[in-house]
Amino acid sequence: MIYLDNAATSHPKPAQVYARMDRFAREVGANPGRAGHRMAVEAEAEIDRTRRQIATLFGGRDPRRLVFTLNATDALNMAFKGLLQKDDHVVTTVMEHNSVARPLNRMESEGTLRVTRVPAGRDGVVDPGDIERALTSRTRLVAIAHAGNVLGNVQPIREIGQLVRQRECLFAVDAAQSAGLLPIDVEADRIDLLAFTGHKSLLGPAGTGGLYVGERVTLRPWREGGTGGDSADPMQPLDYPHRLEAGTPNTLGIAGLCEAVGYVTQRGVEAIADHESALALRLWESLEADPRFVLYGPRPSAGGTRTGVVSLNLEGRPSSEIGAILDTSFGIAVRTGLHCAPGVHRALETFPEGTVRVSPGPFTTPEEIDLLTTALQEIAA
Ligand code: ALA
Repeated sequence: MIYLDNAATSHPKPAQVYARMDRFAREVGANPGRAGHRMAVEAEAEIDRTRRQIATLFGGRDPRRLVFTLNATDALNMAFKGLLQKDDHVVTTVMEHNSVARPLNRMESEGTLRVTRVPAGRDGVVDPGDIERALTSRTRLVAIAHAGNVLGNVQPIREIGQLVRQRECLFAVDAAQSAGLLPIDVEADRIDLLAFTGHKSLLGPAGTGGLYVGERVTLRPWREGGTGGDSADPMQPLDYPHRLEAGTPNTLGIAGLCEAVGYVTQRGVEAIADHESALALRLWESLEADPRFVLYGPRPSAGGTRTGVVSLNLEGRPSSEIGAILDTSFGIAVRTGLHCAPGVHRALETFPEGTVRVSPGPFTTPEEIDLLTTALQEIAA
């Protein structure tokens, strides 16, 4: 199989991730922080190591404020539902994935919030001036995805972070498609809430992710229960990370994530992004002159202005049909349809059919991209 669906989840993972998980499951496997025996202590140490490593990757000063979650969606729900209160105003964009859009839509429909959704250009990029103009005295939060999962567009988060901070609002960034691919610095980018997933470009296993909670934010606990310490306290402890972490964590996944982030750091975030962008450009250049194909979004480029995702359509053919033929006749995995981002497809005028999305990963080769190009040309013929 040629796997070109890394924006959904990266595959394969670096070999050391599988090896670490296997070793951890067999040799450690205990519940962290729940006992004093050496296996529990080693499990706790693994979690602490990963917490520090990821906080450092994102420029977070206090690793305790890096809270593990199931994925980016879980982290975003923790942020929105732990922060927002009646009559708050939120600014977001029309380009959001359902992970941002749906929790806000619900709170808006229940009358809890007012939400302003700013538009984007054809390239998926938002004008920071539009964000600034949408801010009011009631705006509590600006919430935006760093990189788009359909077009690979990158939002100017540093510029947005600066203007949000000047107006004393909070800034939440959904880094599901950028963590591990684009440099992120919560201090320099003035991010108050950074939600990320472990299983995409951080190359870890599914069921891992997190939320970095900046010092200006106070979140109500999202899930309450056992934390290992303070068992006599009838209430959830309010110190981080316990405030937001209750119940047995995904220790095995976090052990794998630790190894994965080590790989990403060693190979280099920019080097991986450049590899994927070069593959995206190779695909783009082989199809752009062919009038049977429509290519969406900005042209692939290196240097952090674009990720390696390419969305395309074959004139007159539903994306789902192309995806099915690629799978069954050519052994190529891509994702078709709306990609959980209906707002993006409405803006692109590809709703409700969607697009064929190709997303290479760090282990994709130019030859695999060429096989995809040949397959698409055969289907078109
Ligand atoms: N949000 C993921 C994607 O874009 C699952 O495919």
